[in-house]
Amino acid sequence: MSEKIKNMFSDISRKYDLINDLLSFGIHRKWRKKTVRMAEVKEGMKILDIACGTGDLAFEFRKAAGSTGKVIGVDFSEGMLELARLKAKQKNIDIEFINADALNLPFENNVFDRASIAFGIRNVDDKITCLKEMTRVVIPGGKVVVLEFGTPTGIIKYFYKIYSKFVIPLIGKLISYDKKSYQYLVDSISEFPYGENFVLLMKETDSFYEYRPYKMAFGIVYLYVGTVKSE
Ligand SMILES: C[S@@+](CC[C@H](N)C(=O)[O-])C[C@H]1O[C@@H](n2cnc3c(N)ncnc32)[C@H](O)[C@@H]1O
Repeated sequence: MSEKIKNMFSDISRKYDLINDLLSFGIHRKWRKKTVRMAEVKEGMKILDIACGTGDLAFEFRKAAGSTGKVIGVDFSEGMLELARLKAKQKNIDIEFINADALNLPFENNVFDRASIAFGIRNVDDKITCLKEMTRVVIPGGKVVVLEFGTPTGIIKYFYKIYSKFVIPLIGKLISYDKKSYQYLVDSISEFPYGENFVLLMKETDSFYEYRPYKMAFGIVYLYVGTVKSE
């Protein structure tokens, strides 16, 4: 499964940012800013962004951590990382982008103040191992933030159903000539345990001393913030 996901993201990497903007009407930028705010990042912090893709969340963290901070982005798709490195060079931003698996992070215990994963945990085979890896590398009292799609409720649910059934695969097909990958996006969102069900996974890790879900955009996305407990 993960080999398939890795190849899929490398295949769509060149069109990823454009399609992100089109599908979310650019609102994903606001979600990322909120993620950084809720992570309560302070100047000088060391931050790890997992499944960083083309780097947009890592860039936001870099601004918040200031010149004395450090941000590292990891992803297992070389195609996505190439773009992240290119964007960092163009923006003259100092971020290290490393090829690594979210399920086996190449870092010592307790070395980051914050760890994040945006729209990535949905694609990871073992979500609990991923969360445990995140809490392993973060210092006790540090924060883990997860931004991920949910499924909206109420009247919005019906519009969203039509949008995800017809519009998302169509835009994927027209822009990246890859309807299958964007059909995967829709399917993986509908199967993802969002809201309280994701909180149960956080609880199951027994690694957080506090955790909270924040519903955003009528439940189209959720932000989960957990504080790492000491061993
Ligand atoms: C939908 S993209 C999100 C990228 C970025 N975080 C963003 O917010 O735009 C999902 C990313 O997760 C990465 N990914 C999926 N499973 C992974 C894993 N096990 N280890 C590392 N990266 C992974 C993919 O390569 C892809 O770049």
